[in-house]
Amino acid sequence: MSASFQDWMKTIQAGMEQDMDGYLPAAGAEPAKLHEAMRYALLGGGKRVRPLLVYAAGALFGADAAVLSRAAAAVEMIHAYSLVHDDMPCMDDDELRRGKPTVHVAYDEATALLVGDALQSQAFLVLADAAAVAGLPPARLAAMLRLLAHASGSAGMCGGQAIDLDSVGLSLTLEQLERMHQLKTGALLRASVVLGALAGKELDEAELAALNAYARAIGLAFQVVDDVLDATADSATLGKTAGKDAADNKPTYVSILGLEPSRVLAEQLRLDAHAALAPFGEQAMRLRELADLIVQRKA
Ligand code: IPE
Ligand code: IPE
Ligand code: MG
Ligand code: MG
Ligand code: MG
Repeated sequence: MSASFQDWMKTIQAGMEQDMDGYLPAAGAEPAKLHEAMRYALLGGGKRVRPLLVYAAGALFGADAAVLSRAAAAVEMIHAYSLVHDDMPCMDDDELRRGKPTVHVAYDEATALLVGDALQSQAFLVLADAAAVAGLPPARLAAMLRLLAHASGSAGMCGGQAIDLDSVGLSLTLEQLERMHQLKTGALLRASVVLGALAGKELDEAELAALNAYARAIGLAFQVVDDVLDATADSATLGKTAGKDAADNKPTYVSILGLEPSRVLAEQLRLDAHAALAPFGEQAMRLRELADLIVQRKA
């Protein structure tokens, strides 16, 4: 990982922390417990991979920084909401997230449910307010809102989560497993890439096809690596409970394909992601580096 990539990441991560703080209701605002818990779930943790993808794709097309900030915060809010609900006893029943007790443990289950609900609404509010940024045509903003809604809902993340929960104890085919991963994780990662690009311009067919091919590869790779890390890393490194997939009898790339073939697949997907970016040349450097990060990460 080059020093300039690390500096770029740190700058965006720090900027996001500050911007998202400003996009949330103040901690003391009533109802104080809900607002405090929303801050607990969203701020001060996480790799911020989705915001990084938004900014990297935005850089391809010279997108406005204020629009990118709102798009990145919106997708990270949806992601944080998905994690809060994913950890609840009715789903994966996890007690550790981003190195801290999960929201239903630190607060209570009803608060965790509402934190997820409220973060989802806040995401669309924050993105809708990008309308105030000069130069963003209303039709493009509407397309961005629609894209995020589609990626979050039953045809995207929520649909994937439903398949995940219905698949406990089953041995899925590779096709079924890929579909589940593409929905539960890939959909929001793809949305991050396309949102960043749309913040810059209306995309032509060739641009959209190239970005989709990149996003498909990194979207699947991200969850393949998540499955590998669940089986190989420790809880302190991950900031979440390791070994949980096997304990819960979840079908994963590791359980169905095996550890080493999963690693080989992730590496192939990294190369596919690079290949998809060929039409953009040097301009796509950050997207290439993010594909490397997604596959080579240790947490
Ligand atoms: C974890 O996502 C859940 C999956 C979709 C695999 P991340 O690994 O991006 O979690 P944070 O945001 O860094 O905590
Ligand atoms: C979660 O997948 C994906 C979403 C939250 C949408 P996992 O259940 O594998 O995520 P972790 O491992 O708990 O982060
Ligand atoms: Mg889960
Ligand atoms: Mg989980
Ligand atoms: Mg996992």
